[in-house]
Amino acid sequence: MKLKLVKDSNPIMRKRSSPVELPLSKEDKATLDAMLDYLKKSQDEEYASKHNIKEGIGLAAIQIGLLKRMFVVYFDTEEEHVEYQLVNPRIVESSIRKCALSNGEGCLSVDDIHPGLVHRCYRIKMEAYEAISGENIVIDAKGFKAIVLQHEYDHLNGMFYYDHIDRNNPNKRLTNEEII
Ligand code: NI
Repeated sequence: MKLKLVKDSNPIMRKRSSPVELPLSKEDKATLDAMLDYLKKSQDEEYASKHNIKEGIGLAAIQIGLLKRMFVVYFDTEEEHVEYQLVNPRIVESSIRKCALSNGEGCLSVDDIHPGLVHRCYRIKMEAYEAISGENIVIDAKGFKAIVLQHEYDHLNGMFYYDHIDRNNPNKRLTNEEII
């Protein structure tokens, strides 16, 4: 499956994605596999430079033009390897404590640079059907992992990371916010 990325200039990116029917269809599973494969390849320097693709750690279905509530993530933190195919995710708890990445965020659908702190919840609990394991899971995430999950989740609701940057004061830290 050859994937074509949709950019933020396309108005479809602002739409709310629809729930995915479960049990997961073969077609949806194949899509998730292709999305995860895209991320893996994007992290292969030789492949990425040859095909001129940007390195990515998360990809939502809408970014390949499908209005479906599912996304994949693939990255490592200091503690663990994170690899999920998440379907119909829900944020069931979120902390009052905030956090933001010191260098801001990026997105495979965004070519322009939007500097500034992207304010996120420091900790979230997310429930979803996870299609690699085939199980319903609860993810308790904090810091970087929580940020990536919130970034991808936003895509399902038509939002971009730069919507969370204060235009008038892009580098202002919130009270209760950890910069990581
Ligand atoms: Ni993104």
